[in-house]
Formats: sequence, C-alpha cells, structure tokens
Amino acid sequence: MKMEKKNIDWANLSFGYMPTDLRFVANYKDGKWDEGTLTGEATVQMSECAGVLQYSQSCFEGLKAYTTEDGRIVMFRPDLNGERMENSCKRLEMPVFPKEKFIKAVEAVVKANEAWVPPYGSGATLYIRPFMFASGPVIGVKPSDEYQMRIFCTPVGPYFKGGAKPITIRVCDFDRAAPNGTGHIKAGLNYAMSLHAIVDAHKAGFDENMYLDAVTRTKVEETGGANFIFVTKDGKVVTPKSNSILPSITRRSLMYVAKEVLGLEAEEREIDFEEVKDFAECGLCGTAAVISPVGKINDHGKEICFPSGMEKMGPVIQKLYDTLTGIQMGRITPPEGWIYEIK
Ligand code: PLP
Ligand code: COI
Repeated sequence: MKMEKKNIDWANLSFGYMPTDLRFVANYKDGKWDEGTLTGEATVQMSECAGVLQYSQSCFEGLKAYTTEDGRIVMFRPDLNGERMENSCKRLEMPVFPKEKFIKAVEAVVKANEAWVPPYGSGATLYIRPFMFASGPVIGVKPSDEYQMRIFCTPVGPYFKGGAKPITIRVCDFDRAAPNGTGHIKAGLNYAMSLHAIVDAHKAGFDENMYLDAVTRTKVEETGGANFIFVTKDGKVVTPKSNSILPSITRRSLMYVAKEVLGLEAEEREIDFEEVKDFAECGLCGTAAVISPVGKINDHGKEICFPSGMEKMGPVIQKLYDTLTGIQMGRITPPEGWIYEIK
C-alpha cells in the first residue's frame, strides 16, 4: 500500500526547510567511513573546534525527487550529483563519499520520507540536500581527521517568489569566485561569499546578482545559485564557459535537450557582458531555480530589457522548460540514464 501523504498545502510551499521524518548520517573516523544509518535526529552535536566551525570545511549538493504523472517517484541524474560531490571533496581535502554509496543513501532517504514527496501536479518537489562537514577539532589551519556526511530532504516550492514570472537581476560589484579558486565546486564557502551581495541586492530591489569574471569584469559568470542560459536573436542557445562557475547539471542537461531533442544550435562559450543587450531571452537554471526567466538586468542604473518582457518566459526558454520538466515528471521519454526510479 502507498504511504499516506502528509497534510501539507503543497501548492503554496516556498523554497524553505521543513524537517522530515528521517535523514541519513555517516561518520568518517580513523581513515574510513562507517556504514551510515537513517536517523530521526535532526540536530548535530560536535566539537566547538570542529573544522567546519573554524575554517568552513564543508561542501554540499542539491537534487530533487519528483512524483511522475503515473505515480512513480524518480530522481533526476543523481549520479552527476554524486560525481560532483566527489570533486568538491577532493578540492577541499575532504574524504570522498563514493558516488555509488551516495546514490544508495539518497534513495534510502527519499524512500523513508515518501509521505513528504509532493504529489504530481502540485507544483512542489522534494529537495534533497546531501552535505559533508569537518566534525573533528582543528586549530592549526589544516584538514580535519573526522567528517560527517548527512542527507536530508524537504518539500519545496519555487526558488523565486512568483514561480515562472520573469525576475530582475543586477550586475554585481562583488566577486563570487576567483580563477583557480573554488567556484567550480559546491563549497559552502562560495555561498558565504555571496551572502552580503544578495542581502544588498534584495535591499536595492533585485532578485539576484549577475557575477562577472573577477579578473577583467567583462565576462558573464553566473548568479549566486544558478547558471545562465541565453537565447540569441537568431535562436541559438548559449551558456557561459568558465572554470570558476559551478558545472550545473541542469545546464548540461538543457544544452543536450536544446541540441538533441529540440534541434536547436547550442553552444558553451565565453560570453562578453557587452553581448547581453543583443540577446533575445535570458534564464537562470539550476535544481532550485529550474529555469527562472530573467526579464531585466540592471547594470549600475542602465537597464537591459529582454524582448520577452516581464510577464512570461520567452518562447525558446519556455520550450526548454517544458521539455526538461516533462522529462522530470515522466511526461516525456528521458534520454538514457537520466531518470532514476525509487523502488
Ligand atoms: N550555480 C550555483 C552557484 C549553484 O548553487 C547551483 C545549484 O546547484 C547551480 C549553479 C545549478 O546547478 P545544478 O543545475 O546542478 O543544480
Ligand atoms: C540548488 O539549486 O540545488 C542549489 O544548491 C542552489 C541553492 C542556491 C539553493
């Protein structure tokens, strides 16, 4: 028998945290990971001198589980999240949690919280947050000897208020990541870097920041929590190439969909901020953002207004959105290996 769903107003959820029944926890000590287990304990107790508290040694992932049209529960490309977390750990001198174990643990968490997976058509999804942090004490600057890996999930609605309504962003004078830094991995410290900039942007009435490259400030990078995709006036999909942005799984999937499913031209290349005013459509893509259309970019008072306007998505971004979400919700046959069914 199917588990009864929680009594939640799914349609009105925002992107927030709500503790669910069970989460996964594994500990790394004496050079190895323990088996890991599911626990009801949502709080963490650790040394006051833990590496994460002193030197921010932590990384995380974000992926979603969906209820499909025919009632299955699926995840979208969890192998790529597992792979990216391995890369984050290596760059941060943290022990790798192998991606095969990652997928199994994520699956166990979703299964254990089936009652919290939003129903098909509700507009909500189950956001899954795997994360790892240095739990052992360090006072000299060095990697910790002990770590904890946890995975919780929480039902969420749209990342930006208003859902699919176009947002307004601003060109940001703060930098998020440096060349040869940590912009290409999902380190918690990247997000700490962006907090002042996002609070400042919100105060000024903008939804997000557009970061430019830290060296020349002429190339488009990404926002605090999503990659960019643009559509040129002749219908080509373009996305910034940079070694200091997060390799978004959504973006990689959309570029494939553009080319192989929709038959569009799609290119990953350096994008000059100067070109942006000539583009037809702009969107932010990511697990949380899905594809959020951008209507306007404010460059120090000068506005770039996309022809798609402030009311709805442009036509190409709409097609990409419909195809991606169609694949995720089981309405469209997925490319091989993209959908992982929880059984
Ligand atoms: N860029 C940043 C900085 C992010 O935090 C995210 C979210 O994970 C993304 C891009 C989008 O990545 P993905 O599509 O893998 O969720
Ligand atoms: C995600 O999309 O999973 C992220 O981690 C972005 C974050 C800003 C919520």
